[in-house]
Amino acid sequence: MKVLVVGSGGREHALCWSIAASPLCDKLYCAPGNAGIAAEAECVPIGAEDVPALVDFAKSEAIDFVVVGPEAPLCAGLVDRLTEAGIKAFGPSAAAAQLEGSKGFMKDLCAKYDIPTATYGRFSDAEAAKAYIREKGAPIVVKADGLAAGKGVTVAQTLDEALTAVDDALLDGRFGAAGAEGVVEEFLAGEEVSVFAICDGKTALVLASAQDHKAVYDGDKGPNTGGMGAYSPAPVMDDDLAARVEAEFIKPTMAAMAAEGCPYQGVLFAGLMVDEKGPKLLEYNVRFGDPECQVLMTRLMSDVLPALIAAADGVLDTFDLRWYDDEVALTVVMASEGYPGDYEKGTEIKGIDTAMAADENVMVFHAGTGRDETGKLLATGGRVLNVTARGATVKDAQTRAYAAIDRIDWPKGFCRRDIGWRAVAREEG
Ligand code: AMP
Ligand code: GLY
Repeated sequence: MKVLVVGSGGREHALCWSIAASPLCDKLYCAPGNAGIAAEAECVPIGAEDVPALVDFAKSEAIDFVVVGPEAPLCAGLVDRLTEAGIKAFGPSAAAAQLEGSKGFMKDLCAKYDIPTATYGRFSDAEAAKAYIREKGAPIVVKADGLAAGKGVTVAQTLDEALTAVDDALLDGRFGAAGAEGVVEEFLAGEEVSVFAICDGKTALVLASAQDHKAVYDGDKGPNTGGMGAYSPAPVMDDDLAARVEAEFIKPTMAAMAAEGCPYQGVLFAGLMVDEKGPKLLEYNVRFGDPECQVLMTRLMSDVLPALIAAADGVLDTFDLRWYDDEVALTVVMASEGYPGDYEKGTEIKGIDTAMAADENVMVFHAGTGRDETGKLLATGGRVLNVTARGATVKDAQTRAYAAIDRIDWPKGFCRRDIGWRAVAREEG
């Protein structure tokens, strides 16, 4: 088969690394890819959001199967356009991708089908949103309706913060069209967990558990990022909780989406808040988490490609996936100094090969890299490397990942030094 992966981050590197190992894959392309992905796939210089060019490329190269990594092309209808062109693709239609692309759509679906989530109001009028906030009081959460690159959510501890967030989104247009509408919702306390399922429109296959660290600094302090590290399995996800999430969220959502006329095919990523009463839905994403995908692919024993094809073909019910159950995977994100704020681009990175050669349990996925004309490896983004290790325990994987990081020579990079701390604490009792 000829396979095309769409995207350029660590998630897509992990997907390419897994798919390239599949005996079903004869030729792998990635658009646009990055310097690490170039070791697994032929990178083609087409942006992940350039839907017409991606469809043209897939047609002209007679691509058999397309795997879409990020949410933006999904929400823009890439899978719809590929399907119309007769090209099989893994990922939801634009209508189904509204689960991530519109917070209001997701909340209304939950309300209609009794899926537990924070109480909420939908607003396009700032005064009405503010009246609702004053009535409910702080803490309270303000969200832009559309895709805002992870920056559209304000968890407001005070009334003032919440009112300012409304002004930013609804009046000042900080998130553009994505913020023309908003959701204000109840603040939920507890521990966050993520659940990933591969779905074929009818059946959902829940994957191994994984957890990320969103805050930029040690101790889960500082502003939220796309994720500074992740590990799998997530010890908080015991069998009882996993069964509840499947029964109370994943299955009802699959049924609801089918009933609404937009059956869900692709990865369903549920972000949940768990307290003593149980889980509630914070958000749905319509793609693999990044960097959660990196630890999931590391722990996956089965060939991933047939599973993705089975999802696109609607035959997941005949399918199962096997995992390295006695292994933990942990990834640490190395980011450019300054991230998630402004950062310098084009700084040189050395030592990745040395770091990987020193420990066969280590794999460095590239999230934001490129090469200059002399072949030097350069950082091109905020999140740049995902240093990933397998181990017998979380502590073991963590030790290996940080030993690898210490072998990487990148003065302009930084990372958290405590990825997995909750899981290590649980492990050590
Ligand atoms: P979202 O993009 O909706 O997942 O929100 C980003 C992050 O904001 C989540 O991962 C949570 O840490 C936090 N968050 C979102 N909604 C709530 C809520 N209702 N209560 C508390 N924290 C929330
Ligand atoms: N790591 C969280 C996300 O991909 O949204």
